[in-house]
Formats: sequence, C-alpha cells, structure tokens
Amino acid sequence: MARITKLEDIVSLCKRRGFIYQSSEIYGGLASCYDYGPLGVELKRNVRDAWWKRVVRMRDDVVGLDCSIFMHPLVWKASGHADKFADLVTVCKKCNTRTRVDHLTDHVEEHTEHVAIETAMADAQNLDKKVCPACQTVGRFTEPMAFKLMFETQMGANVDDTMTLFLRPETAQGIFVNFRNVLDSTRVKVPFGIAQIGKSFRNEVTTKAFIFRTREFEQAELEFFCEPGTDEEWYEHWKQARFDWYLNLGIKKENLRFRDHDPDELAHYAKACVDVEYKFPFGSGDWQELEGIANRTDFDLRQHQRGMRTLNSWYETKGDLGSIKLKEEAEDYHKGPLSFFDEQAKRRYIPYVIEPSAGIDRSTLAFLVDAYDEEEVRGETRNLLRFHPELAPTKVAVFPLVKKDGLPEIARNISDDLKKHFTCFYDQKGAVGRRYRRQDEAGTPFCITVDGQTKEDNTVTVRDRDSMEQIRVGTDGLKAYLLEKLGI
Ligand code: GLY
Repeated sequence: MARITKLEDIVSLCKRRGFIYQSSEIYGGLASCYDYGPLGVELKRNVRDAWWKRVVRMRDDVVGLDCSIFMHPLVWKASGHADKFADLVTVCKKCNTRTRVDHLTDHVEEHTEHVAIETAMADAQNLDKKVCPACQTVGRFTEPMAFKLMFETQMGANVDDTMTLFLRPETAQGIFVNFRNVLDSTRVKVPFGIAQIGKSFRNEVTTKAFIFRTREFEQAELEFFCEPGTDEEWYEHWKQARFDWYLNLGIKKENLRFRDHDPDELAHYAKACVDVEYKFPFGSGDWQELEGIANRTDFDLRQHQRGMRTLNSWYETKGDLGSIKLKEEAEDYHKGPLSFFDEQAKRRYIPYVIEPSAGIDRSTLAFLVDAYDEEEVRGETRNLLRFHPELAPTKVAVFPLVKKDGLPEIARNISDDLKKHFTCFYDQKGAVGRRYRRQDEAGTPFCITVDGQTKEDNTVTVRDRDSMEQIRVGTDGLKAYLLEKLGI
C-alpha cells in the first residue's frame, strides 16, 4: 500500500481537497496556525465524537465536562504551571535564532515534547559544544533562560482592575477544580472519570510538521479518579483501552506503539507516563506522540487544596503570582475539601488520577496519513483515503447517472432522505467516473447512482470505495443497508 512519504504531499492533499488550510492565508499566513476546511471540519468532528463515544457515552463510570478556557490565575500557581511550565532556551549570537536547549544536539536524536527543566539544565552546561540548528555555528549562545509556555492576556477594561490571565495550557485543570462540584451534583463514586475536549494553548519555542505541533491545539483528556493502590491497575486498563481505540478506528498496527517516558522526561506531576506513538512517514521517519497516559497520583488535588488555602494571600499581593508562595499542606490533608469519602470502607482519601490525554489535531493527521492510498486501476492512478466509516467526513454520495429523464429528482429525494441520518453529498456534475474519483479522494465509503433501471425497478447501484464493486439495492431498503454497512 502506498503511503504519503513527504509532508508537502499531505499538506497539498489537505489544501486541494478542503481538509486543512493555512490560517490567514490571503494575508500571507500565520505560522503554525491552521484552519479546517469543509472536509476537515467533519473529519475532526468525527475524531472528537469517536473519542467521546468510547470514553464517555459507552461507559458507566465516566462523565463529561466543558470548562472555560480562562481560569482563576491561582489555578496555575497550584498546578505548578506558573513556576515550572517553561522551556530552557538560548539564542544564537550569530543568527539570533531562539532554540530550546534540549534541542541543541549535533546528532538527529530529538526530544519531541517538553523535558524536565532539570534535564535541559544539564544540556545547558555544554553549550560551547552545541550547534545552532539554523546557521550551524558552534558554541555561540547566550546564557540559557526560561521561556514561559503559557500565553498571557489581560481581563478587564480599566487599568485599575485588569487582571493577568492565562490561556489554559491543558484542559485537565478545569476537571480538577470541578472535582468537588461533580462529586456533589451527580451520583458518581470513585473509581470514576471526568472527560473534557477543548482547546489549549502553549507558546511553543518550535512548532512542527503541519498540524502536529501548533501553539493552539485541541485536547481530549480524561482524569480518572481511583483509590490509591489501584492506580497501577487502572493505568494498565487505560493504556490498553486507548491503544485499542486507534486500532479499532483503522490505524494499522505496525504504525502504532507504546513508548514509556524516561524518568527525566516525566512532567512535574507524573509518577509514570507512556506515550501512544504513531509512525509518521515524513520527517526523519518519526515515531511521534499521539497521546500520553500518565499516572498523576494525588498531586493535582492536593495542590489545589493548597491553592484554596492560599487565596487570602493572593488578594493581599494583588494577584502577583511571582511573589505568592503556596501555603503548606494541612497535616490532615487527606480529609480536605477535595477528598473522597468511601462509604463502604468508611475511609477518606485523596484519589489518585490516571490521565489519558490525546491530541485531537495530531490524531486527525495520523488518521489522514494512515488512510491514504494509491493504486493502479486500468492504467490510471487512483488516490483514495480509506477512512474507517465512523471517521469518513462524507458517508455517502448520491449521483444521477445523467442530468435528465427525471434522474436528478429521484437522486435528490434519496439524498435528502439519507441526510437525516448521516452526511450525504449530492453531485450531478461531470462524468460519473470522475465523480467516483473525487469521492475516493475524500474518503467517502459509498456512492449511490440513480440510473435508467431505477425508474423500472426502484433499485440503485451502491459502489464500495475500497473494492469498487457495485451492487443493486432497492431504494426501500437503502437506508437500512447503508446504516448496517457503515456500522453507525
Ligand atoms: N494534561 C496533560 C498535557 O496537557 O500534556
């Protein structure tokens, strides 16, 4: 099977077929920002829906949430992001390029995500041996400095009462700060999870590979709360569940793997973390992270209990996060406001958290790349996207064979009826062979053609995208046939 082997080819396919465009393109574009076009928006929505269906709707132990992007600034002090969420960077004195210190190597080894700042510090000791990736100059770097990854903005119109806020760098914190609300307003009991999908923002020093790493991105995160001591079991459970999710939606097994984080790569909140990686065919033939599954222990809930105790100081310092020190943890912290009372065991504790955190944009890119195929058909190259039906942006296309003899009216009626159930595209323009090819390139699983025989016996042809086989199906049973084949 052919794969896209160059990033330019996927970028060009995405633009040509209306999946993804450069943001603000008519103004020359805005680096690292992208817009989803008519097919892309459906594809991405389907990826999101497939996640929500498996992680929330099909389970009894997970509920959903949709939090605001702006949160109280103290959230980020308590979570550790205000102090620790930074990359160590240096600037090449020759060409002025800013680079992450941990990216300065003279071999191809590349850390793809944020490494612990301590690890970057170790790299910073050897700057005189490092090479600037932009101009290849060796050892002419400025003193390393911390580059904060959170975007800041101001809320409020008046100079006196404006407040500095952050665009959230992860959706997870909205879940932690609502843990008590969800416990008090629903019937959930530990073990249970809270899931959320939404935009997050990180002022990355370097962005990467089209929509793979952008400064504005969409996350699908689950915080699964469990009793301490059961966390390793749940970690294994979610590892497998999340790996299977990609496989069940059609990602080829040989392109998917787990990679455990080294201790020096672990985020400040994690006891263990494993990435689900996809083998992207471009760049250096890279395995890259689609999702991380972390054991966040009771770190976040405990930190937010400290954050709640710090609120008065926050007012006293007029919200200066730099000078505020988080209050020490109470001795009986395990009985604090973010604890859980186990009625059966008559025991109170702060739950541990297992967090599968997926990137919706990167998964969408992986599904696109993995679905891409080219094959020779009667001396011509057929390009197609073999999307899983659940992800296909358009499920069915309906064509009248010719634009006369009442065929367009019949085809329109069929299309209007099918549209109530799934995305359906009507097309009467051009040769039918070209219409099939367009749908192949859009990844549409089925094409329906209304022809002369339809008027005689009420049947239409149904063409399968992958095999290109056509069978006749009665219009009465068409909807049921398609729903069954699509599995939706
Ligand atoms: N919540 C985990 C992450 O954003 O990486």
